[in-house]
Amino acid sequence: MEKIIVEGGHRLQGTVTISGAKNAALPILVSALLAEGWSVYQNVPDLRDIRTIKSLLTDLGVQVNTQGSTVKVNAGTLRSHEAPYDLVKTMRASVLVLGPLLARLGRARVSLPGGCAIGARPINLHLKGLEQMGAHISLEHGYIDAEVPSLKGADIYLDTVTVTGTENLMMAAAMADGVTILRNAAREPEVVALATALNQMGAQITGAGTPVVTINGVDSLKPTSVTIIPDRIEAGTFMIAAGVTHGNIKIIGAQPGHLAAVIHKVRQAGITVEQEPDGLRVVCEQTLSSVDVKTLPYPGFPTDMQAQFMVLMCLAPGLSVISETIFENRFIHVSELQRMGVDIKVSGHTAVVQGGRPMTGAPVMATDLRASASLILAALAAEGTTEISRVYHIDRGYEAIEKKLAQLGARLWRTGGSASPK
Ligand code: EPU
Repeated sequence: MEKIIVEGGHRLQGTVTISGAKNAALPILVSALLAEGWSVYQNVPDLRDIRTIKSLLTDLGVQVNTQGSTVKVNAGTLRSHEAPYDLVKTMRASVLVLGPLLARLGRARVSLPGGCAIGARPINLHLKGLEQMGAHISLEHGYIDAEVPSLKGADIYLDTVTVTGTENLMMAAAMADGVTILRNAAREPEVVALATALNQMGAQITGAGTPVVTINGVDSLKPTSVTIIPDRIEAGTFMIAAGVTHGNIKIIGAQPGHLAAVIHKVRQAGITVEQEPDGLRVVCEQTLSSVDVKTLPYPGFPTDMQAQFMVLMCLAPGLSVISETIFENRFIHVSELQRMGVDIKVSGHTAVVQGGRPMTGAPVMATDLRASASLILAALAAEGTTEISRVYHIDRGYEAIEKKLAQLGARLWRTGGSASPK
């Protein structure tokens, strides 16, 4: 099994360039299902989740052509309406094909994603919204079977803010008869990026980035060309890497507008963040301060940065309280971090970190994508060597992570693949 070995204690310094955002690329690649002809996507990261969505599109009969970070997709050849269990089980975001398949073919059969390490993650709001748009949905043998003669616009209130739920319904509504209103919609930059891509295809969507999104259905959509926005979570993770190693990193492509909550909290912790024309410079020269954090839907502090911020707080003398309000089980990294000597107590949705204790390298296990990022960050700061197993989690969402960290002066390498220090 592949492992990442990290020798801790090296200060990070230099420049890193942020890749395209996984969570923007996934729905945008799927949106190609809504048109016939070649759409062109640039700055698509080379990640395991992106390969999974490309496999799913190919499985549906869609043509996919990849050259470096440019991906071309032609859904003129779409011939299947089924997303099988084998693909959906490896990536929940596969459920994003539900809305576009219904819009294009009037039917979809998509495996129900099960639970996942970070929580139950139901998709009831995706299904309820599609039902309001006239879809007949049944759940049998682990599959969602959805059918509709033609989708109708509807006034939909989402009980919980859901990112992929908002995206799925936006794609379904783009070609529905009449107007759809999504209330309590997710405001994430990735939702805005999808709406922008859909509008370029000829959709009429207004309000993306606000809690009320209005979609005026159109008869058809045309192919388009899109450059994927930089990954704000990757950028945030490198900001924390600068903090935990008392480093000085220029992060090219980091969008301050997408990172306002993270920048605010990182600054409170004593890290300097300066805006430069092409990104952010992040410098940590002083003792860290403890800060409380509560995860919230955008523009609140992202749940996808909670595990990484916790590592920063492990190094800040004093108490910090970290509240997770989005997912019910997103503290699984805590027991692995405890193996490295940190003092964290979890009660329900709250983790109390007593920071300032030295961290020591240990064998640890990655349990999900962001948890694995937190283990790498802890390992960079720890005394001695850390061995991280189950690293396939990190390959889902961080492009060339070892190479990027090594360029900044980190000492880490992978065993199982290439065994020598990079
Ligand atoms: N929820 C429901 N019913 C639904 C949908 C969601 O109750 O029908 C609940 C969820 O259980 C959760 C909350 O609503 O408690 C928010 O979940 P959301 O639907 O927003 O999550 P998601 O769309 O499945 C996306 C990202 C996640 C990120 C979350 C929250 C993608 C592909 N995934 O997931 O990214 O954590 O939003 O911001 O966009 C990651 O990249 O590591 C990752 C997990």
